[in-house]
Amino acid sequence: MFFIQLKDLSKSYGSVKALDGLNLKVPKGTLYGLLGPNGAGKSTALRIICTLLNPDSGQVHVAGHNALIEQKQTRAKLGYVAQEVAIDKILTGRELLQLQGDLYHLNKNYKNKRIDELILRLGMNDWIDRRCGSFSGGMKRRLDLASGLLHEPELLILDEPTVGLDIESRSVIWELLKELRNSQTTILLSSHYLEEVDELADEMAIIDNGKVIANGTPDDLKKQLGGDRVTLRVREFSDELEAESVKKLIKNIHGVSNVVVNKKQGYSLNFLVRSNEIISNLSDYLSKENFEVFALSHSRPSLDDVYLQATGKTLMDAELELAGKRDFKLENKQSMR
Ligand SMILES: Nc1ncnc2c1ncn2[C@@H]1O[C@H](COP(=O)(O)OP(=O)(O)O)[C@@H](O)[C@H]1O
Ligand SMILES: [Mg+2]
Repeated sequence: MFFIQLKDLSKSYGSVKALDGLNLKVPKGTLYGLLGPNGAGKSTALRIICTLLNPDSGQVHVAGHNALIEQKQTRAKLGYVAQEVAIDKILTGRELLQLQGDLYHLNKNYKNKRIDELILRLGMNDWIDRRCGSFSGGMKRRLDLASGLLHEPELLILDEPTVGLDIESRSVIWELLKELRNSQTTILLSSHYLEEVDELADEMAIIDNGKVIANGTPDDLKKQLGGDRVTLRVREFSDELEAESVKKLIKNIHGVSNVVVNKKQGYSLNFLVRSNEIISNLSDYLSKENFEVFALSHSRPSLDDVYLQATGKTLMDAELELAGKRDFKLENKQSMR
């Protein structure tokens, strides 16, 4: 049985279709990653699962409950850490956790023991007794996470848990999630960081325009592409036009797919090849066309290649496109690969 099951979920905000027939099955005890660019519909899906939002149509089953009807029972099973949270500024971190524990009706001994345990695990000891108003983004995020875990929920839902965080906070959160992954807890995590999903998720789905467009384990998704990823530099690439003309040549080779022009550090081409034989013939083929190969490297495909295969664009391009359209802040672009 699946711990979370979403069937044909749709949700619009006015004329914006946030979810467009989303289907998802999350097995019990897995860490499941939802990967997609900003605006893909991740937060909307998570808020529906948490019973904070009603879909226009579709079905939602969580931990054996029909989440659209049995809202209270569903909520009791889960901990939710939202993408943006307003934390009280006057209370200290510990006071906030105690208040949260009271909301969950935890008994006093258990509550205090659990709070101490989480303070230790999330490295919050040095600052937890300070007022929340002085906390950095990373501190707040760790406090949120502790708060979501206080009642030991069977299901933990995290919306972009490390977006914009300092390295230390991110690594503390990753370590805790890795620990939880080995327990019985089911975790559903959304992210637009490829490496986060790749590193943490047992299984994952790629979401684009309110739909799942690919799902499986990160490794399976990469293997399904077949072959290796090649980065090619040709001495003559002086501008985009030349890179584009070589792109045309390479696209015609049998067994080559996902060819993109990479504009970082001079022009290069990235593509997938089905077999290594293609790589060895590549130099000869290009020199016949008067292009001298300058450097050629290959590696295993990444989730970016999976995303490209499924959508025809890189995740970074999808983000930039949406940012252009909606004037989103570009602050997180640097950390994406
Ligand atoms: N409260 C809202 N009102 C209007 N539009 C919204 C609202 N919340 C989300 N949207 C829109 O719905 C789409 C999906 O958003 P969201 O679920 O937040 O995506 P993600 O979490 O993947 O970035 C986007 O186009 C977003 O602008
Ligand atoms: Mg979101």
